[in-house]
Amino acid sequence: MRYCKIFDSTLRDGEQAPGFSMTVKEKLKMARALEKLGVDVIEAGFPAASPGDFESVKIISENIKGCTVAALARLNESDVEKACQAVSGAAKPRIHVFIATSDIHLKYKLHLTKDEVLEKVRTFVARAAARVKDVEFSAEDATRSDPAFLIEVFRAARLAGATILNIPDTVGYATPEDIVRIIEAVKAVPELSDVPLSVHCHNDLGMAVANSLAAVRAGVDQVECTVNGIGERAGNAALEEIVMNLCVRSAYYGVGTGVDTTRITAVSKLLTMITGVKVQPNKAITGANAFAHEAGIHQHGVMENRETYEIMTPESVGLTENRIVLGKHSGRHAFEDKLASMGFNVPPERLDVLFEDFKVLSDKKKVISDKDIEALLKNTILDIPEIYRLDRYIINSSNILSSTCSVRLLKNGERTPEGSAMGGGPIEAAFNAINIATGIDAALCEYRIEAVTGGIDAQGAVSVRIKKDDRSYKGYGVDPNIFEASVKAYINAINNMLNQIGADGVSSGGHTGS
Ligand code: KIV
Ligand code: ZN
Repeated sequence: MRYCKIFDSTLRDGEQAPGFSMTVKEKLKMARALEKLGVDVIEAGFPAASPGDFESVKIISENIKGCTVAALARLNESDVEKACQAVSGAAKPRIHVFIATSDIHLKYKLHLTKDEVLEKVRTFVARAAARVKDVEFSAEDATRSDPAFLIEVFRAARLAGATILNIPDTVGYATPEDIVRIIEAVKAVPELSDVPLSVHCHNDLGMAVANSLAAVRAGVDQVECTVNGIGERAGNAALEEIVMNLCVRSAYYGVGTGVDTTRITAVSKLLTMITGVKVQPNKAITGANAFAHEAGIHQHGVMENRETYEIMTPESVGLTENRIVLGKHSGRHAFEDKLASMGFNVPPERLDVLFEDFKVLSDKKKVISDKDIEALLKNTILDIPEIYRLDRYIINSSNILSSTCSVRLLKNGERTPEGSAMGGGPIEAAFNAINIATGIDAALCEYRIEAVTGGIDAQGAVSVRIKKDDRSYKGYGVDPNIFEASVKAYINAINNMLNQIGADGVSSGGHTGS
């Protein structure tokens, strides 16, 4: 069976999208999960974009040895240099250089002639190839480029040492036929007939996966994609959809990948926990409803034989129907088994904290579901070192008076003076009181609450984003009491901020906040 490489760009093209920024630590967590998932290439970032991006590519390169680690660079000296330095610790480093080739990009974005573009390709692809063996060249906006010029550029890139040529449908404009036509044209050029090809499809018209699969059929060696399809605008081709198409319709495609499909659900969930952005419920493969059968007639069919309405099993993507129910009397072993069955391996030091949280919750709630455990896990996954911790709070709220809140916090285990404040509502009063108690003048810019499960004893999961000095920081809290969940989320965001800028409030110049 032919093999197609999976090039994952969740940490570069995906992370670039608004609301999806991740810290270095979070990116490393995702990279480890992607390595276990079995992707061939992890595009870890764009080192020239920010010191934080440089740092994440460097750390991922030093820690991920099972797959190729790629760094993106424009065709200029400083980008190529930074990318080379960032991947220097990787077992299998790749530099991914790109330049736009469409007339519209040349005229309005690059202000370059075609000859000048060709000159840059020759110079900087050669520069990258002199430093790193594996060099990918992308012709940005390839699908809207003059086909003859695209071939000329690819020829120049190949001659200068590119080891793989990528065809991006940057604006998601192509049809599957367009993609196939371009691939056939490239393959027909004698000097390019042996070079590995790749595609990178965006989803502006909802065609990213269809276009990627057409490219696979036309013989490309690599597809670029992201987990849950996250990415610029309407996103990139979704990794899980491409992989499951190749799997479920293997007789049609005859192409395999190295992905362990049973890890798909855990990786998708990890990404949503880290970014706080949920997957749309009806999304193929990873949406909450992807394997749910609601209509009676469907349920009846599935009960008789699952294949009536299921073309793949939930288990094949790692969605296990878990029959172990946890409660107050469950021990640490049962708890650990449960986490493992959900696809999460928690390091022992975090497991202690998580088990404590679980015990506290099981005192308040009779039956602990997988969703409750996921909600607790999120704290562990975000792994924000605790500087401030909630000691106690009092909230008064009514429909006749302003709300008030007094809160007392522990700072590195020591009690701090109580902060008291009023607010239009109890949450505002609580957040104002925390600002007073910490002496930090943060502003709330996003607040989301949801019930983790149904039922009167459901936990409330609160996600917040706070802003200070033009940088934003996320925080998360969960508790059956929604006021307490909100207070914990705000404190978590403050801790996140202090950890990123330094507990003394001085920026260490790292990443862009998350
Ligand atoms: O969409 C695009 O063209 C890209 C390139 C940098 C590959 O992301
Ligand atoms: Zn892209």
